[in-house]
Amino acid sequence: MKEKIALTITTLLISLLASQVVFSDDDGRRGGAWHRTLDVAPVSNDQYRQECASCHMAYPPGLLPAASWTRLMGQLADHFGDNAELPADTAKALTDYLVANAADRSDYRRSLRVTRSVGNNAPLRITEIPYIKSKHHEIPARLIKTNAKVGSLSNCSACHRQAESGSFSEREINIPGHGRWED
Ligand code: HEC
Ligand code: HEC
Repeated sequence: MKEKIALTITTLLISLLASQVVFSDDDGRRGGAWHRTLDVAPVSNDQYRQECASCHMAYPPGLLPAASWTRLMGQLADHFGDNAELPADTAKALTDYLVANAADRSDYRRSLRVTRSVGNNAPLRITEIPYIKSKHHEIPARLIKTNAKVGSLSNCSACHRQAESGSFSEREINIPGHGRWED
């Protein structure tokens, strides 16, 4: 009897360990191809780069869910205080690109985090996503807002040198006037 209980406990422990291994990757993936090396898919559309990267970097589409891109592209005349209006056919082509490559259509690991973090919300800003906010809450304002070379957390590429290529790895972070981030 004792042996049988011991065996049951061992079996339980083993299956518990096995499930830990399977679920230890906190990206919530359910099979398919893994994208371990990159955080989000790189920007891959020249028209997007041309039209949407004159005032700021071309944000990788995998950083916002499809509903956010649709909302944002539907109100370009009032774009965070700027007018970013485009001819209807251009706006349509870019919306199609952004939606097709949105966070909730992508299996890159940071896109999965973004999707999980926004839930049913469709924020207009990447910087409003709880997951993205939480990654930056320890950085003091003097390194962002009052840092002339950054100015805003929206300026991802000021610190993440490979942001447009879809990489946000800590190794590539270089905060202007500060350097690497040690935490
Ligand atoms: C005329 C200048 C201009 C153009 C063109 C422009 N934007 Fe912006 N965009 C802004 C400004 C200003 C902000 C707010 C930045 C800030 O708060 O620091 C912004 C913010 C954003 C943000 C939110 C960034 C954050 O805080 O997370 C997204 C997403 C965005 N733009 C997408 C686009 C897309 C897509 C296009 C092309 C259709 C585009 N922008 C074209 C000026 C522009
Ligand atoms: C002022 C510099 C700065 C700006 C601007 C900035 N970040 Fe960061 N980001 C950091 C630092 C520093 C960390 C690491 C924080 C930590 O680990 O405590 C980080 C971490 C991250 C991480 C997590 C990386 C990891 O390995 O866990 C992601 C994803 C990220 N940032 C995305 C963005 C996006 C998207 C934007 C623009 C909307 C942005 N960041 C703007 C400095 C910046």
